[in-house]
Amino acid sequence: MLTVAVLISGTGSNLRALLEAARHPDFRARVVVVGADREADGLAHAEEFGIPRFTVPWHQHESREAWGEELGRQLAVWNADLVVLSGLMRLLPAGLVAALSPRLINTHPAYLPEFPGAHGVRDALAAGVTETGASVIVVDDGVDTGPILAQERVPILDGDTEHTLHERIKPVERRLLIDVVQRIATGELSLTSAP
Ligand code: GRF
Repeated sequence: MLTVAVLISGTGSNLRALLEAARHPDFRARVVVVGADREADGLAHAEEFGIPRFTVPWHQHESREAWGEELGRQLAVWNADLVVLSGLMRLLPAGLVAALSPRLINTHPAYLPEFPGAHGVRDALAAGVTETGASVIVVDDGVDTGPILAQERVPILDGDTEHTLHERIKPVERRLLIDVVQRIATGELSLTSAP
């Protein structure tokens, strides 16, 4: 059974998808802990599913490195096989990325390498393109630059707002994430030899 730690900052819809997937006997991964950089709404999903959770509040640390060290200590308690960033709106410090990689993946609401960074949905809308996408990648020390594990195109429709487009992307993101985690759990996808 693959143990998974999930890190969030927001509503945790991707986290919930993993928690619900784990209810199925053929899903070979289990979320063992949920962490957040704030009192994120998504922590309520962990509470509902009886999953341990912790917060490492960003503003209680004087630097990204100090925050990352505490986050690393919290994660080390659980020593999950895989760490999933899903809506964590913080860049991990290089030292933590190095300590966790390559068993560290991230979901992103764009068709990378298009529109990396914290505003991928907004940037795709502003670019006036007719499609964007969702991606799951291995985290490296860049911003959404790591090896792509899965991605799928999502159309941009006339009249889309950042919200309507993001809500169209998220279900695709969730499906890709569940599939990638399952493939890692079954050994079909090896992170050490990520494409
Ligand atoms: C997701 O689209 C994620 O890729 C992005 O922020 C969103 C978080 O959504 N970084 P949620 O918190 O999982 O609902």
